[in-house]
Amino acid sequence: MTTARKLVIAIDGPAGSGKSTIAARLAKKLGYVNLESGAMYRALALKAMEQQVSLDDGEALRQLANSAQIELEPRGEGNRVLLDGCDVSQRIRDADVTAAASRASIHPQVREVMVKRQRALGLGGGVVMEGRDIGTAVFPNADVKIFLDAEESVRAERRIVQSGLRSAEDTQRVIAELAARDQRDRTRSASPLVAAPDAVHVDTTHKSIDDVVAEVEGLVRRVVSD
Ligand code: DC
Repeated sequence: MTTARKLVIAIDGPAGSGKSTIAARLAKKLGYVNLESGAMYRALALKAMEQQVSLDDGEALRQLANSAQIELEPRGEGNRVLLDGCDVSQRIRDADVTAAASRASIHPQVREVMVKRQRALGLGGGVVMEGRDIGTAVFPNADVKIFLDAEESVRAERRIVQSGLRSAEDTQRVIAELAARDQRDRTRSASPLVAAPDAVHVDTTHKSIDDVVAEVEGLVRRVVSD
């Protein structure tokens, strides 16, 4: 499908709802770029860990964010992420960075820096950006807003499959970490994870990736033909 106008498509939702996969597939179909906003918070959290900057110090994190060079290179599946020129694509997916990113992202000072950069990336349109606040804060005027969700047990199961972990202990840990991150992302005061009032909700619990992509593509088609 091609679109005459280059749209901005916002996909938000909790961890394991399918955002990254759906955003990447949709972007490929449209010839758009997919941008994982969460990777920027992850890269900043990694820098804070490396430089021993407290994840509770919003002001220090803001300064760190201002000095950090974070680049997202859209790929077939997800983004290649460069932090100050180094490829951190794998490292930022580790459990310690995942938890740290959720903590670093609660600070309004950090969000201010990140949102500004995310807006700049989407300026010309032709983007599918995914995250937690894309439809509410980054692009409140996005052409298409989608809120993906799925039952918590299914989201945890997807994470377990992705990580290749098998032991009962690991499984329990992944479930607990996902629940803690959800709670933090949804209850923080600055831009919590919440659906925009005009977002279309898509529950991916019992749907295949192809089904969700087709559904979302249908929504885009409707906007294009209006
Ligand atoms: O989407 P992700 O799992 O890579 O995101 C990592 C963390 O970054 C997530 O726990 C919350 C934060 N985040 C955010 O606050 N706002 C976004 N737009 C994207 C991610």
